[in-house]
Amino acid sequence: MSYYKVDNLEQYFKHYNKSVREPRKFWDRIADENFTWYQKWDKVVEFDMQEADVKWFINAKVNITKNCIDRHLAKRGNKTAIIFEPNNPDEEAQHITYNELYDRVAKMANALRKQGIKKGDRVCIYLPMIPELAVSVLACARIGAVHSVIFAGFSASAVAARVNDCEAKLLITSDGAYRGSKTIELKSIIDEALKTCPTVENVWVVKRTNTDVKMVEGRDKWLQPLVDAEDANSVAEIMDAEDPLFILYTSGSTGKPKGMLHTTAGYMVYSAYTFKNIFAYEENDVYWCTADIGWITGHSYIVYGPLLNGATTVIFEGVPSYPEFDRFWQVIDKHKVTQFYTAPTAIRSLAKEDWKWVDKHDLSTLKVIGSVGEPINEEAWHWYNDHVGKKKSPVVDTWWQTETGGIMISPIPFVTPTKPTYATLPLPGIQPVLMDERRNEIEENQTAGSLCIKFPWPGMARTIWGDHKRFKETYFSTFPGKYFTGDGALRDEVGYYRITGRVDDVIIVSGHNLGTAPIEDAINEHPSVAESAIVGFPHDVKGNALYGFITLKEAGAWRNQDNLIKEINEHISSHIGPIAKLDKIQFVNGLPKTRSGKIMRRILRKIAEGDFSNFGDTTTLLNPEIVDEIKEGRIN
Ligand code: PRX
Repeated sequence: MSYYKVDNLEQYFKHYNKSVREPRKFWDRIADENFTWYQKWDKVVEFDMQEADVKWFINAKVNITKNCIDRHLAKRGNKTAIIFEPNNPDEEAQHITYNELYDRVAKMANALRKQGIKKGDRVCIYLPMIPELAVSVLACARIGAVHSVIFAGFSASAVAARVNDCEAKLLITSDGAYRGSKTIELKSIIDEALKTCPTVENVWVVKRTNTDVKMVEGRDKWLQPLVDAEDANSVAEIMDAEDPLFILYTSGSTGKPKGMLHTTAGYMVYSAYTFKNIFAYEENDVYWCTADIGWITGHSYIVYGPLLNGATTVIFEGVPSYPEFDRFWQVIDKHKVTQFYTAPTAIRSLAKEDWKWVDKHDLSTLKVIGSVGEPINEEAWHWYNDHVGKKKSPVVDTWWQTETGGIMISPIPFVTPTKPTYATLPLPGIQPVLMDERRNEIEENQTAGSLCIKFPWPGMARTIWGDHKRFKETYFSTFPGKYFTGDGALRDEVGYYRITGRVDDVIIVSGHNLGTAPIEDAINEHPSVAESAIVGFPHDVKGNALYGFITLKEAGAWRNQDNLIKEINEHISSHIGPIAKLDKIQFVNGLPKTRSGKIMRRILRKIAEGDFSNFGDTTTLLNPEIVDEIKEGRIN
């Protein structure tokens, strides 16, 4: 029996129980049977969850790109590894075979070495969704450089904060990016960012939009001539199982983003295993995930998971609404996509359009359709299931996080019966638990609590880059000995999980994980602003939108409200990026605070939602009178 793939419900329970009883044996078999190693491990796992220290596959030696590319060449050399679908539907799609991918990665790996990039050096990548993005990621992994992809929607100062935190030596970008009908000047954002990034020695620039750019002498180089000069053979670096593979930044409850560090072997095993199970991938399938490689979903389920399984993976440069609202469905039809993986926010925005857009296209190749990034509401779930999946392709509602490295709770298609809005059951190998307010584990079903994981799994992040203390405090201290996800969940009568949302100061807007603190920090830097508090409120398309309560230094300065609102949003755009703009801004004379000075967000959240019931006891507030005033001024 192989534990790599579950084929029916009985087997699911068998594997699951085995994975709980004998987790070491379970993971040992998966790692042993499905990968190429230079050297196997002495021990499967070592951990101390109190100290947040976890290591998998001790002393094993491996290179993830040998597993993503080289080992497929004999059998799948001429198979398409990547289909690139450009932003403009009139531009021809590219089919990159495994042989070609090998050549491209090898050449870039050699160029990196020639540039002086060594194992352990950090390389930041700020690129649109073009093949070079995947190639750059893989070329770094080939030579053991640690990649840190920064989503190309972030502003210059957000880029600078990330580049400086990981002290990158090299940055890879492009002249510009196409996004629907717009062209975005990526290189000039990088030029601005790098004014404050002393560690970056070189910038490589991919030519994509032919936008005019300034090239800084000695620092900036066009990428194409560099790779053209190289040989298409490159020795892969021998990596220890626990050598860093990548850093990916995610928001937290302070202004500083958290650089989640993933290491080599555990991440490899986990992303491959989860891809195989969740997407029921078979040899001639065409798999498409619409996420951006700048987020974890793109790392695990556009690049690593699919390539580790020798799959064909689509990289889509565009947006769902360009040139028209049927772009997703047109691409599925065009490339005969069999697995489609997207986000609830995209589903909701397309569900608002006439379904003639969907019905125009042949979606009969689809076998599995997935959702990720935030809770999917019942209406969107049904729309997706009925109109896209045609009630025959199961919806896999996959719950996981940047920190978990791969999918943790999800239906396995054709195995686990789906239930609208439920992520259903944990994958074999994953042990979720619900905790009550007294920090005890809740044993029974039909209950709700804080979602924790009680045994380590290979894909989990190992630390926050440069700040292990913060890692331990954020994830392992609230419920000592357990990994705390920051999410709340329900468990139904049969043990299915439904994720209800964040229980901390993170708000998910259009599937983007935004911490309130960095947005507040950005707003507070505006010269007129004294203090601010951001909360989320339900939004039809985005899931949540942001509501800002702001006090000003000078009472009455809000009389020129429209300008100020515009300026504050511009401030947020330039500090973080347009994704973090506020939908509603209310100027207030004070924020409700506890006697110790903590802002009572719970109350603000209720006001933003328009729910004026049950504020709880407000008499303990420092300034209870402010609540009525804020209620009256609420923006509808
Ligand atoms: O709140 C959960 C929500 O997204 C958070 C993780 O965000 P991020 O690290 O950006 O990773 C997103 C892609 C994996 C989680 O803590 N979330 C993610 N997937 C789901 C979800 N909430 C409900 N249902 C999901 N399927």
